[in-house]
Amino acid sequence: MMNLVFPEHFLWGAASSGPQSEGSFQKPHASVMDYWFQTRPQDFYDGAGPDMASDFYHRYREDLRLMKECGFNSFRTSIQWTRLIQDLETGAPDPDGVSFYNRLIEEAQALGIQLILNLHHFDLPEVLLEQYGGWESRHVVDLYVRFARTAFTLFGDRVSRWTTFNEPMVIAEAGYLDGFHWPKYKNRGKASVQVMYHMALASALAVKAFHELVPDGSIGIILNLTPAYPKDAQAEHLAAARFVEQFYNRFFLDAAVKGSFPKELLEELRRQAVLFTASDDDLAAVSENTVDFIGVNYYHPRRVQARTDSWQEAEWSPNAYFCDYEMPNRRINPYRGWEIYPQAIGDIADVIKNEYNNIPWYLSENGMGVEHEARFMNEAGVICDDYRIAFYEEHLAQLHQAIQNGAACFGFHAWTAVDCWSWNNAYKNRYGFIALDRSTGSRTIKQSGRWFRKLADTNTLTLEDITL
Ligand code: BG6
Repeated sequence: MMNLVFPEHFLWGAASSGPQSEGSFQKPHASVMDYWFQTRPQDFYDGAGPDMASDFYHRYREDLRLMKECGFNSFRTSIQWTRLIQDLETGAPDPDGVSFYNRLIEEAQALGIQLILNLHHFDLPEVLLEQYGGWESRHVVDLYVRFARTAFTLFGDRVSRWTTFNEPMVIAEAGYLDGFHWPKYKNRGKASVQVMYHMALASALAVKAFHELVPDGSIGIILNLTPAYPKDAQAEHLAAARFVEQFYNRFFLDAAVKGSFPKELLEELRRQAVLFTASDDDLAAVSENTVDFIGVNYYHPRRVQARTDSWQEAEWSPNAYFCDYEMPNRRINPYRGWEIYPQAIGDIADVIKNEYNNIPWYLSENGMGVEHEARFMNEAGVICDDYRIAFYEEHLAQLHQAIQNGAACFGFHAWTAVDCWSWNNAYKNRYGFIALDRSTGSRTIKQSGRWFRKLADTNTLTLEDITL
């Protein structure tokens, strides 16, 4: 048996997001996700949409209490732009939205759960996509900053830790390159680069506003720093992995922490005539307004190789530089199709420590989605998800080792608390510590939730069976 003790004041909890939990009740606007579901419900597993989600809008009290029972000292969710803001041009708030988030903050405070509020979780107001072309538009950056200012002004007196975006890379990748999130474009390479730049700029301008309005708080950005591992050490595979690392990871990481963009990548984008358009003032804003901390979402590694065919599309795309590599004998979560590779946490920690000045960070999402979990229910009605506990144990052991090696990591958030709605997969894969019965709305803590309670209460990971 081994006891791994985590640093004092470590954050223990989970993450969720507004669009995946609240439901669309009372919102003054539709997000791109709401619109996607209204337009093409057949894209969603079992036809389940964000309209109902897990009904967190009505059940937040019960859900926060269950989180407390699972030992949470912290919880991240996102404020929906489409709920908080009534006038998207001026940033004037919607009274019902203000009241909801105020009640949520009060309840979390009463329970001693520190809220981390995120501002954007893939949920652009749809009308801004329609009217302006969404994140391709510089005007939308200003509108986002007005929304951010409203949120900081209203809630910054009680919430001190914020994040500007969750996984902005996914918006470009899934929406503009690979076609699996609305607006479902494929290989619109030049547009994807502009979208990425505008989100990096929006984040920097929100950081600036935050530091003015909430001087005692701290603000970060949540990035999916999925490491890119080459198939082998051949030069062509190394080059493919290097490109992926720079485009998919370092673009946002450099902008957020260093206030600049990877030079080699910018040169390539310029050579290909797809570099973003930017004013000097905006580039200065990126350089002057870096984040206080990073949130790292980690689920699986990315294994890449040089392209095995020649790229045929007319338009430039990052997909021209690599293709995925299926490593033989990799461990897989069959429900989500993602490789399980906890060792990557150490690699991410080393990059942050050695190349990003050891900026404080926390593991802001990590988890395992499993289908048909009801089959693991015992006679008492509790889902016995020992596979999830084993998954977390392995990842936490790696995280603990990284901290021993000097990583400035201040917390661990699982994905997620109550089983929540996901983009295309809707409720197919369940990730929560707390099971949701969609037919009745009832919630029941899973075995992993009890296990997490002990972990959080003792600040110690106890490993019975050491296979590290
Ligand atoms: C993260 C997102 O990428 O992964 C979450 O921040 C998402 O929003 C989670 O739900 C799990 O992925 P999925 O697609 O299985 O829901």
